[in-house]
Amino acid sequence: MSPLTIALTKGRILEETLPLFAAAGIEPLEDIQKSRKLIFETTSQNVRLLILRGIDVPTYVEFGAADVGVSGKDTLIEHNSKSYYEPLDLHIAKCKMMTAGMKGETLKPGRIRVATKYVNLAKRYYAEQGRQADIIKLYGAMELAPVMNLCDEIVDIVDTGNTLRANGLEPRDVIGDISSRLIVNKASMKMKHKEIEALIDAVGTAVRERLAA
Ligand code: PRP
Repeated sequence: MSPLTIALTKGRILEETLPLFAAAGIEPLEDIQKSRKLIFETTSQNVRLLILRGIDVPTYVEFGAADVGVSGKDTLIEHNSKSYYEPLDLHIAKCKMMTAGMKGETLKPGRIRVATKYVNLAKRYYAEQGRQADIIKLYGAMELAPVMNLCDEIVDIVDTGNTLRANGLEPRDVIGDISSRLIVNKASMKMKHKEIEALIDAVGTAVRERLAA
């Protein structure tokens, strides 16, 4: 059978993912952080890891180019697809999806401009609030946008709040809690049921042990 292919999100999420997979017996044979490679064999003979930008992980899993993925809930909400299963909350990379704006400023009534990389999520959120919002897509450094009057408010993930504070912004409303999730391609779940069930069990145990520690 073809190897079980797991797409991981590089960066902050990866650092917290690797110990969970190591506890489940899956460790890359090379140091991912020191390599420019994008695909890694592991200590588990039939498992390989792909290292991707977070935004691409659901796409790989959706199309079956990876059987399993690790992705932030923020990315999954934005991707908004029902074409994979989401069987496990890894309880890592926890943060909040929030609105934020200039410190001490109240949001003007009427139509507002909102900068975010979470366009779909933001559209849904402001529609639910009954507020008219023009959404401006940005790819990073959202915190700069209100400072430069590009927008009235941003939608972004907030962890410590340091980035907001450092730029004269403050958090406003919590849209939702975010953490990383294990996702599984639907066909793979059938075709590789035994391996994937074992993986979910082993990683699930590692998650519970980490939470209990
Ligand atoms: C995220 C987010 C904020 C920051 C929040 O960016 O976009 O800028 O973290 O964290 P804090 O509340 O602890 O300051 P990230 O560092 O993930 O980089 P990105 O812009 O590439 O997503």
